[in-house]
Amino acid sequence: MLHFPVLLEESVDFLLHKHNGHFIDCTYGRGGHTSEILKRIKSNSTLTSFDKDPDAYAHAKNIKNKNFQIIQDSFGNLEKYFSPNSIDGILFDLGTCSTHFDNSIRGFSFMREGPLDMRFDNKRGEPLSKWINYADENEIKEILYKYGDEKHAKIISRAIMDYRKEHQFKTTTELANLIVEIYPDKNIKIHPATKSFQAFRIYINDELNELSNALVQAENIIKKDGIIVVISFHSLEDGIVKNFFKPQIKNYPKDIPLNISELKSFECIAKKIRPSKKELELNNRSRSAIMRVFRKL
Ligand SMILES: C[S@@+](CC[C@H](N)C(=O)[O-])C[C@H]1O[C@@H](n2cnc3c(N)ncnc32)[C@H](O)[C@@H]1O
Repeated sequence: MLHFPVLLEESVDFLLHKHNGHFIDCTYGRGGHTSEILKRIKSNSTLTSFDKDPDAYAHAKNIKNKNFQIIQDSFGNLEKYFSPNSIDGILFDLGTCSTHFDNSIRGFSFMREGPLDMRFDNKRGEPLSKWINYADENEIKEILYKYGDEKHAKIISRAIMDYRKEHQFKTTTELANLIVEIYPDKNIKIHPATKSFQAFRIYINDELNELSNALVQAENIIKKDGIIVVISFHSLEDGIVKNFFKPQIKNYPKDIPLNISELKSFECIAKKIRPSKKELELNNRSRSAIMRVFRKL
């Protein structure tokens, strides 16, 4: 399946508020946004893209452009590569690429048999198959509730425990078939394993902590008037983004009159931007995308 970059024109229009400068695409994927940025920036500008996925890195290595570099690392390490106040624009297009689901070996898809892996960086950390064979029932249940909003979390986590009495999980379809078998809503419109697979993917890649860490670092490396664009696909991600850029009134002394504008370090210049009808027709996967844009004050 082709990978369609989500909110491509809209995000790059905001990111390139000026056409020369230093820009970062934190999530290269298959280079949809990266290519568009490279097309539009001036010759004295630079673009650095990140992706921790080795396949994404290999793909980006084919780009021959003196203004471009790819770094295979987490976007949670931005400060390792850039100094404070040095960057003009940072883009995050979070989550997975359709290419992750297409390649059964990567273990993201409940439709294709493959090793139960789900790691973006499959050279580090533990695959889902390892964790799910030792995790505690309660922990599994909490992850399904929290990251998947799965109302049958208790039934699914119990079934995983029962299955483990006689088997070890090895493949995607083993887990998907078990969920289909025990799922109480037989008329559910989506595949019964959809929410569980999403929850396990978010957990195994520590996606929410990575995002929180990255935003702290993005705040430091972005210049005054620099732009941060975030495209999220999950309400938990979007909530982290929204709250991060809110003025922090928690630690403000109670005896001093509150002036919100003084506490703000970012201005929100666009919120809750969603794909157009035309984009939705072309790419159904974009349906849950939501974009927010911030400018450093
Ligand atoms: C939605 S895709 C990006 C698609 C890309 N904008 C395009 O149009 O081709 C998200 C990418 O982010 C990568 N990714 C996810 N978490 C990451 C992290 N913490 N650090 C670096 N890359 C990450 C994934 O491997 C995936 O390739």
